[in-house]
Amino acid sequence: MALILGIESSCDETAVALVASDRRVLAQRIASQDEAHRPYGGVVPEIAARAHAERLAPLIKDTLADAGCGLDAVDAIAATAGPGLIGGVMVGLVTGKAMAMATGKPLIAINHLEGHALSPRLSDPALEFPYGLLLVSGGHCQILRVDGVGRFCRLATTIDDALGEAFDKTAKILGLGYPGGPAVERLAREGDAGVVPLPRPLLGSKEPHFSFAGLKSAVLRAKESGQYRDADIAAAFQQAAIDCLVDRLERAFDAMRGITALVVAGGVAANQAIRGALETLAARNGLPFIAPPLALCTDNAAMIAWAGAERFAMGQSDPLDFAARPRWPLDPDAEPVRGAGVKA
Ligand code: KG4
Ligand code: ZN
Repeated sequence: MALILGIESSCDETAVALVASDRRVLAQRIASQDEAHRPYGGVVPEIAARAHAERLAPLIKDTLADAGCGLDAVDAIAATAGPGLIGGVMVGLVTGKAMAMATGKPLIAINHLEGHALSPRLSDPALEFPYGLLLVSGGHCQILRVDGVGRFCRLATTIDDALGEAFDKTAKILGLGYPGGPAVERLAREGDAGVVPLPRPLLGSKEPHFSFAGLKSAVLRAKESGQYRDADIAAAFQQAAIDCLVDRLERAFDAMRGITALVVAGGVAANQAIRGALETLAARNGLPFIAPPLALCTDNAAMIAWAGAERFAMGQSDPLDFAARPRWPLDPDAEPVRGAGVKA
């Protein structure tokens, strides 16, 4: 049995967790920066980096205390090394390196997206490779076939905005504040999705890629028209997003024969309406549907520690000069997609 300490600092959550290779989460703490960023309606990189620098060391101390163990009990340090806001990533990675150096334990540099992608294997011991993964977060919207640890085939990505970004922008347009996803989901429950006509970008197109920029602009026009209730706009937006996800995944299934399950991960996977639609879609395609518990969907360090545990079990570690990476695609061989503002 190995014990891995995980550190996450790539966006606006400072998080630390202790996870055992038998899937027990011994302790985990998350310091959210929502309050610090709220006045700006989004994450301010400089404020985020400073907050990580202030909070990370005490958080590590407290997490070890929660688990009732010292650093000597830890077998390896896993730290997010990208992709993300580079200032924050550097705070977490350098802290992990310093701990690895001082203790002589191995450092494992984790791709944050791999943390999300492997998180369902922490909550679901029976989940076998290869599985189909919808990774939906604030920075990413991708369909991947997960063939193994570090082995990904990207079938689709967004040609403009990520879905979480579209949720956040919709929240801003409707004056719901930050973070937007959960607020839009709450308001959508009170609305009628059939009142406001909104587009479904790329629906039916041959490649299973996503596009959400046009949907976001249509939300803005609907709001500015003054014709609709905010709840109806929120419900229509969420339904349009769901229709796009389902259509694009149906398309991707053709290229993912042999997968053991449909899995959803990333912050947007916390959305209950989206989970429900994906569950129906999976059942229609004869696949089990797996979604990690909500706390494992949004950014956390248990998923980073778990990805570290998977890599540690394979005998992997990284050198102390491992560089922080603002961009770090899971499938480096994936074809770039044509679009207005393509993101990695
Ligand atoms: O994975 P995550 O915590 O951070 C990134 O790596 O991006 O994802 C954050 C994103 C935000 O855009 C947030 O609005 C969205 O996930 N989100 C949701 C919900 N909860 C969080 N979107 C829709 N419905 C939710 N319930
Ligand atoms: Zn994330």
